[in-house]
Amino acid sequence: MLAPTPAISAPRLSILGLTALLVCALPAALAAQTPAPPPQAVSSSAHTPTGLLLSDTTLTLRVDALRPDVLRVRLYPTTHPTQTPEDASWAVLPAARTARIPVTPEPTGFSTTSLRVSVTPDLRLTVSDLAGHILQSDALPVAWSPDGFTVTKAKSPVDHFFGLGDKPGPLDRTGEAFTLWNTDSFGWQESTDPIYKSIPFFLEMHDGRTLGVLFDNTYRTFFDFGRQRPDRYTFSAPAGPLDYYILYGPDPKHVVETYAWLTGPTPLPPLWAFGYQQSRYSYTPSAQVEDIAARLRADKIPADGIWLDIDYQYKYRPFTVDPATFPDFPGMVHTLAAEHLHTIVIADLHIADAPNQHYTPYDTGIAGDQFVKLHGQNYIGPVWPGPSLFPDFTRQQTRTWFGSLYKDFVADGVSGFWDDMNEPAVFTYPSKTMPNDVVHRIDEPADEGFAPRTALHSEIHNVYGMENSRATQEGLLTLQPNLRPFVLTRASYAGGQRYAATWTGDNLSTWNHLRMTTPQLLNLGLSGFSLSGADVGGFGGSPSPGLLTKWLMLAAFQPIDRDHAAKGTRPHEPWVDGPAQEDIRRRYINERYRLLPYLYTTAEQTSRTGIPILRPLFLEAPHATADNHPLDDDAPGEFFFGPSLLVAESPLPDDIAPYEVHLPPGIWYDYWTGAKLDRRQTLTTRDLEIKNPTANATPTLPPLMVHPALADLPLYVRAGAILPMQPLVQSTEEKPAGPLTLRVYLPAADATASTSSNDCSGDLYADDGLTFNFRHGDYLRLHITCTVAPDGALTVHIPQREGTFRPWWTQYRIEAVGFTPHTSKATTNGHITALDRTPLGWAATVPDTTQPQTITLQ
Ligand code: GLC
Repeated sequence: MLAPTPAISAPRLSILGLTALLVCALPAALAAQTPAPPPQAVSSSAHTPTGLLLSDTTLTLRVDALRPDVLRVRLYPTTHPTQTPEDASWAVLPAARTARIPVTPEPTGFSTTSLRVSVTPDLRLTVSDLAGHILQSDALPVAWSPDGFTVTKAKSPVDHFFGLGDKPGPLDRTGEAFTLWNTDSFGWQESTDPIYKSIPFFLEMHDGRTLGVLFDNTYRTFFDFGRQRPDRYTFSAPAGPLDYYILYGPDPKHVVETYAWLTGPTPLPPLWAFGYQQSRYSYTPSAQVEDIAARLRADKIPADGIWLDIDYQYKYRPFTVDPATFPDFPGMVHTLAAEHLHTIVIADLHIADAPNQHYTPYDTGIAGDQFVKLHGQNYIGPVWPGPSLFPDFTRQQTRTWFGSLYKDFVADGVSGFWDDMNEPAVFTYPSKTMPNDVVHRIDEPADEGFAPRTALHSEIHNVYGMENSRATQEGLLTLQPNLRPFVLTRASYAGGQRYAATWTGDNLSTWNHLRMTTPQLLNLGLSGFSLSGADVGGFGGSPSPGLLTKWLMLAAFQPIDRDHAAKGTRPHEPWVDGPAQEDIRRRYINERYRLLPYLYTTAEQTSRTGIPILRPLFLEAPHATADNHPLDDDAPGEFFFGPSLLVAESPLPDDIAPYEVHLPPGIWYDYWTGAKLDRRQTLTTRDLEIKNPTANATPTLPPLMVHPALADLPLYVRAGAILPMQPLVQSTEEKPAGPLTLRVYLPAADATASTSSNDCSGDLYADDGLTFNFRHGDYLRLHITCTVAPDGALTVHIPQREGTFRPWWTQYRIEAVGFTPHTSKATTNGHITALDRTPLGWAATVPDTTQPQTITLQ
């Protein structure tokens, strides 16, 4: 029995219902010509304890301080003094959304201990820091029309914009315009917009000061960062709330951390998620899956997961297994597990329209009335299985039902789940999704602020994929409360990082797609999605041997390292091009596994701070250039992998011409050779022009040029870093044989060195890699520090351990890079041992006594 059609309730904010009067009051064109009225004192009645509440006859502006550095701005029609719009969010955590702090009233606005807010009588906002630097100001009053609203801010020629999720193109979004509407976009290119995700969060950087903006509106939204007019940027929506958050730095890292406070950080995944993953559309039958597993092990390609795409299913029906091609599915999962390989399966959200066929997802879904509606009937659209129904994920009850569908897979030992096609993709053209008038029901826990109501697809579309991944994650947590879930989603919205990792969808096997991966993953990280990857080798098309090798090399330094390929393309596995290519590929995957303690430590920090694993240069070094432009603009192939390792791929990876590496000023080491690079005095030509335009602009040091070679990927480590590393293993389940290495890159010891160059420290985090026991203290955390004495002796301090976890190692190997020994001895809490020579420096191996230790290398 189908449920009766629910009545469509009033939209969340009746913007479309605004009167012509309102439109006449503030026509955008007129406003554009009218000089801005000077700030005038706001009446005291406009002040609230936590901000401002100002109304004219048509609009009400509400500004609240959530923290000294976070503001929430809402504008809505003045319909009735007590009628405020629904205060709710899919993105923002309830505690952050409702946080408030007292502010200090000022004649034209208010201030906090970080920010000053002033407002003009026509409701234009200006936000400054306390020193008077304008951080953001409305160039125009908000423009309202029957078609929606536009917020217009002033933009200077030196503004830089970042974020907005997975949008292709350069890292810096300046001069570009974007649409947010989750879209299945096979073979997207730089100019393709929109694509899979809608993350309406961006960072604005101006002269070294950074602000973040989350425009929390789930409709099809638009962003223009100076495309139309270089002196303005805008964000707009056709409907829905005008509700945005301003996050102040000035440090960009602080903005990113604050965004995690607002929307939640990326949780710590199971350790195996950081291993190499082998996928294909599709490995079938099960014997082929087992062959792939056997070859990975025989060829000693370290790996942790094999992914099953839609062909393992019966008639492409999610939550089924084809008994003909996978006759013993649990047996196959078990065989892989015995090889320390996890099985990850795709389980799309569309439920095949298959009545009376013992298809449980359909039968239970119909019985529970779990699907979205069109014209009073369950909406049916074609996807892989043919006609399909679509779960109503904006209901807690539907998410609970959907989450229960994973029960059998979990019982079979499947470790991870892949939520694809959740824009949602529907094979109807040209929209490629369901109609805008499909009806969803919202029925949510009270603290999210949503009243139970119906909503049209035009409102829900952009959060649909996120709520799908939430259902998966919540279902897994119900089924296995103490196991960390691993979910990969294609579509999402702001805050979706709480539920799933992501990938960049259907890229292509081209050098250009390899190049585009870096800015895309960096912007995803800045937008909250730290756990991200791209199909290694490219999804569509067949990579040349060199391209596949380069891609596998680069992906070793990306958060998710999954090789995946479309049907009909040539095989992608690391061995397919013969031993010479395979050797290079293996070497890089091996290096990823050696760096796992560093990567996992970084991921754990991300789970608390929100600072992504992959970082643009400006995040670590916001003032690396003379005029504070982001160094990334000069170095598009470069990024930080964690806090200390800088990857310097060529900006044009198939080009054989030498290219210049731009390192933030300081002392660096070549990761592969240990060679020290003193780049403290380096200034780019552009820097010198800015500093002294009349002088002959030549850098004080020659540029750092790299001559590209297929097998080389330049990596640099900052002086003072301590990288925790481990002996090579074939999977994260294998216990490493040998000591935990703490590779110390010596900081500058001379008096002219800057403080940051003298800093010498590193972090180490470990736990069981699988459960939530770390929440109860079963982890190990160390903040290791080091000092260099005037005579060159290096002292490493290992403090008292935090946490009760007993790690796999029993020894530390302190490896010093950039170190010259005098006695070739190490003293550890009074005991003396000999140093040994390593390819990169000198090392001492000492027992891990579990107690604080001081180790001096001389
Ligand atoms: C979509 C996904 C791709 C997957 C394919 C078949 O195109 O993006 O990764 O292999 O569907 O499931």
